[in-house]
This record gives sequence, C-alpha cells and structure tokens, in this order.
Amino acid sequence: MIFRQLYEPLSSTYTYLLGDEVSGQAILIDPVISSTERDLAEVRRLGLKLAYTVDTHIHADHVTAALAMRRAVGSKIVAAACERLPCADIGVEEGRPFRVGGIALHPLHTPGHTDGHFAFRLDDRVLTGDALLIDGCGRTDFQNGDAAALYRSVHDKLFSLPDDTLVYPAHDYNGRFVSSIAQERKRNPRLGAGTTLDEFRVIMAELKLPYPKFIDYAVPGNRQCGVCPADLPAELANFCPQMEESRQG
Ligand SMILES: [Fe+2]
Repeated sequence: MIFRQLYEPLSSTYTYLLGDEVSGQAILIDPVISSTERDLAEVRRLGLKLAYTVDTHIHADHVTAALAMRRAVGSKIVAAACERLPCADIGVEEGRPFRVGGIALHPLHTPGHTDGHFAFRLDDRVLTGDALLIDGCGRTDFQNGDAAALYRSVHDKLFSLPDDTLVYPAHDYNGRFVSSIAQERKRNPRLGAGTTLDEFRVIMAELKLPYPKFIDYAVPGNRQCGVCPADLPAELANFCPQMEESRQG
C-alpha cells in the first residue's frame, strides 16, 4: 500500500493518501478544498486514480475537497452513514470494513468531538481524526460534542488497540507527524497517563478556547460535502480557492 501524509497549513490538517498498487486506486482521507489541485497532482504523480474521498467528520475548521474532487475526477464521496448527507455516495458504519483493492479501512465510531465522528483502523495504524491528537484531542464544545463520549470513545475503541499501533491524527499544530497507542495512553495529558473521566471533563470545560472563526461557514458547507459559501468575509477568503464552480449560487 502507498501511504502519504499531506499537510494543509491554514487549518494544520493532515490529509492521508492511500494507494492500492494492484488496482491503481487511491483514497484521500480528509482532503481540504484549498489543497485540491496539489492533492490531485500527488495522486497522478504516483500513477494512481482517485476513487474515493473519505471525511472523518463534519469539519468546522476547513471545507472538505470531497465535492470539488468528485467534480474534477469523478471520485465517490464517503461519509458516516449516521450523518445522512444527501450528497454522499457511500455511508460507512462500524463493523463494515470499507475495501478498495487490497486496502481495508475499518470504521470506528468515535463520538465526542462530533457525534458522527469516525476513526479508521488500517493494518498497523489508526487514523484518529480529531478524536485523538498527539498529546491532545479535538474540542468538545460544538457540533454535539460531549467530553464523556469522547473519553469513552478513546478509551474503549482506540486505547484498546495494540500498543504499537501507529496514531495518525487529522491535525497537529506543533509539527509532529505520528505517535502510537502506547505513547498516547502513557502520556497524553488529557486522555492518557491515568486521567479519569471526571478530570477529563474538567480539563475540557476549562480550555476556554475562542469561538471557531470558520465554523459558521465550514459546517453548512461540509454538510453539502464541500461548498464554499458565497458570503465569505475577506479575512477568510484564503480558506476557499478562487474557483467559481466551488461557490454556492
Ligand atoms: Fe474537527
């Protein structure tokens, strides 16, 4: 399997490119609309054809490239079945592996950051989305977020994976790339190192994070699989490419 970790700097997002060398098909997980051309060029450079885009959840900090890529190359849009997105082509559920050639993605429903959030186990690694970040986790104060649900998701479904499972998060804001289940269980300051559920609730309640500057545009756009709003304020204009066809209306 071909595996590439691509970085989008505006939202510090990691997009993962998976390639099946036998069938020549590629999957992009959490592609960002402002990096559409770069990611498609990388797929082509590797001699692959983009077959699917997958989003781990409805993002609040960037617009997914799913729709732009479907328009550009005919890739199918994969999202959580429980989100019931009319624009999605395929819905994933826990317990039903998503297979592309020799690649098997095992969906793990991991609510807490958002209620429809999924992580994906893939051989010796797990793509954790925003449920588990390196030494951190996604916030739980929007999009039906729930600290207790996130604690259970991480402990029951991620920390139960083998110690040497590699952890590939959807973001890192400090230039880190990869961790492992053993490392996060041992030293994640929010969810690991013996932190109890009650302690985690307090940590999340006291984060006092600012209101997400892009959420009011990104969430409705992502519920349409990646539409850039027409009324984007000038200071957020670089979150969307300057392509008319990606805009609404
Ligand atoms: Fe997120």
